[in-house]
Amino acid sequence: MKIVLLTGPGGDAQGWGDLKVTESMRQAAESAGHPTRIAYVADEKEFLALIDHPDFDIVWSALYHITPNEAFIGRNVAGTWVADEMDARRIPYIGSDSRTMKAMIDKFQTHEILAAGGVAVPSHVLLHSGDDVSAVTYPAFVKPICESRSVGISDESIVHNEDELRRRIAFIEREFDEPGLVEEFLPGDEYTALVLGNGKTRECLPGLVTVEDKHFRNYRILRSDLRGVGLTRISLAGARTEEASLLADAAAEAMGCLDHVRIDMRVDREGNLRIIEVNGIPGLKPHKSWAPQIYTLYHPSPQGEDEDYRQLIGAILESARLRCGL
Ligand SMILES: Nc1ncnc2c1ncn2[C@@H]1O[C@H](COP(=O)(O)OP(=O)(O)OP(=O)(O)O)[C@@H](O)[C@H]1O
Ligand SMILES: [Mg+2]
Repeated sequence: MKIVLLTGPGGDAQGWGDLKVTESMRQAAESAGHPTRIAYVADEKEFLALIDHPDFDIVWSALYHITPNEAFIGRNVAGTWVADEMDARRIPYIGSDSRTMKAMIDKFQTHEILAAGGVAVPSHVLLHSGDDVSAVTYPAFVKPICESRSVGISDESIVHNEDELRRRIAFIEREFDEPGLVEEFLPGDEYTALVLGNGKTRECLPGLVTVEDKHFRNYRILRSDLRGVGLTRISLAGARTEEASLLADAAAEAMGCLDHVRIDMRVDREGNLRIIEVNGIPGLKPHKSWAPQIYTLYHPSPQGEDEDYRQLIGAILESARLRCGL
């Protein structure tokens, strides 16, 4: 099948990584036997020009929506959503459908869908400055609703009283023009699961995420300055493997995820895992992103990590190919 890897200014903030990562994916897709090209669209006009005259079978997008913003994802409520435009033209695409993509990018919506499906999430409330905050219990964790890469996350995300809470919500509104998602603070270990494939063949592969204690300040959380700099480590999930795998599977099912996602979880104060978010377009930097690292932990090939990466990209493509009947 002929593949287009779609990216643009928002590709790193929203999607799998920068253009170098996209080129690694292109080579892996080619080696799986699929003619593959990269389409970098600078704006909406270039995006529509690409999809109005498709000379390909399927699109794989690093973008949820088209935006010039390189720094963060943003809500883009009235903007152009890639999956919506694909649906309107009946162009197949890799990954979850438009409704699920929009739900995954909005962590509050994700929590609501998962909670309604009986999947464990932290207790949570969405707050704008000026809202009544009397329902919040402390310590609480405050974050933007639709960011990634720990953008907007620091030790100040943990708040202990109304004053700190209001200051953090004001910060998030000012920096990202997003309301604050206020969650129960989950003090325990952090896990992330790579989810591959659909239906009965879906595989959920959890890993434990760690950072050496000396890098933490007051809290064992993945602050933004700990991300993307080679400090996080992924290892097998040990005694939590089955619990994490079942929880990720239930979350993927409740959200209606397709082909591949990465699902983050943490342990609450009672010792139970709760989902913190479902990443619709996980990072795919060879050797570095968590998804390729987890794939290597579970499916190491004798040829080494470069081959594992090709296999991972091949598995995602194969799941979309079968699903779309291509
Ligand atoms: N309720 C919580 N309690 C404790 N820590 C939390 C909580 N929510 C998030 N964190 C910490 O903040 C980090 C970033 O949060 P989250 O995974 O929700 O956002 P993200 O920036 O979208 O991440 P990603 O890069 O995986 O897309 C987590 O990895 C975790 O360390
Ligand atoms: Mg995360």
